[in-house]
Amino acid sequence: MSPSPSVQESSHSQKPFLATLDGHAVGKPPVWLMRQAGRYLPEYRAIRCKAESFLNFCYTPALATEATLQPIRRFGFDAAILFSDILVVPDALGQKVSFETGEGPRLDALTSPDAIERLSELSFNRLAPVFETIERVKTSLPHETAFIGFCGAPWTVASYMIAGRGTPDQAPARLFAYRYPEAFQLLIDKLIEASIAYLSQQIETGVDAVQIFDSWAGVLPAREFERWCLQPVTKIISGVRMRHPFARIIAFPRGGASHISSFALRTGANAIGLDTAVDPAWVTQFVPPNVVLQGHLDPLVLIAGGQAQDMAVKEILSAYWNRSHIFNLGHGILPQTPVEHVEALLRQIRSSEA
Ligand code: CP3
Repeated sequence: MSPSPSVQESSHSQKPFLATLDGHAVGKPPVWLMRQAGRYLPEYRAIRCKAESFLNFCYTPALATEATLQPIRRFGFDAAILFSDILVVPDALGQKVSFETGEGPRLDALTSPDAIERLSELSFNRLAPVFETIERVKTSLPHETAFIGFCGAPWTVASYMIAGRGTPDQAPARLFAYRYPEAFQLLIDKLIEASIAYLSQQIETGVDAVQIFDSWAGVLPAREFERWCLQPVTKIISGVRMRHPFARIIAFPRGGASHISSFALRTGANAIGLDTAVDPAWVTQFVPPNVVLQGHLDPLVLIAGGQAQDMAVKEILSAYWNRSHIFNLGHGILPQTPVEHVEALLRQIRSSEA
């Protein structure tokens, strides 16, 4: 099978984000922010009320396209991220998903092994509006701006599917995995297969790179981290590369701590997303220099702004100046973030020098 034209033909020399992701650039980093489209933007709040639910918003290409482009217009980030959610995958597997205002996601919890067997095949029909959004965004992005697709990693998505909601430590899914390891493995395998198909289709439709969000990797003991995070993400990456050998993939095992180095090397990801808690000095010493880094300013620093922000940004810039680094937050931007602090962040990064 031949690699997708979008991956092969996109010239990274015109897109700083891709040059860095390919390990060809050091020094002043390209920048985008996780959750860069969202409630901290007045223009997002203005269009958010046009859809009756968040899921409908994600499945309305005109709105999702507009939300994807808003932060690019306002800030000129080096990459746009598709506006959608990781929970469209359970929705497309036939599980009921909704978002309650102020409360986060609600799913019909999978409480028994039978419920896992009853899940359907991934419905590309249900996901069709997401692919239409990719097509629309693709035609409107500035040529220097890269386009990122994404999915949730199997462990993180499964943890919402089992609990039916976000929890502080994803205890319901951890307990389910200890009690019913075979059924849980079946769920993870279904999600691996769905993620390979979903990411491949995103690449075929036109994204330049994809990110796999393992937001809940940090709650697992080492053995479970290996089985439920590292192995599934490795399988997704090799599955996507069977179809698209040059696919660019960023893995974000949030809370992966001392596992992140082997995570980067063993999964074969092009870059590793670092979270807020990782120490830059540790990264410099223990993550091999050929591993491309993304991250990892504390999102709370961007709310505080001022001197705290100035110092924290400087620390990250200087720690990774000599290696390929994409500037980002250590987790998603928070709704309380003042847009002026994002502007100050970009000024500081763009005027930085060795
Ligand atoms: O980064 C982007 O700008 C693209 C869009 C994006 C969203 N969710 C939009 C969203 C992405 C990449 C995600 C990923 C996502 N969704 C993750 C992984 C990253 C992470 O934050 O850990 C997770 C765990 C989810 C599940 C999810 N979606 C939760 C827990 C919530 C509720 C929390 C909240 O912020 O409200 C959502 C809702 C959600 N997803 C919103 C947005 C903009 C807010 C809903 C709204 O605007 O009404």
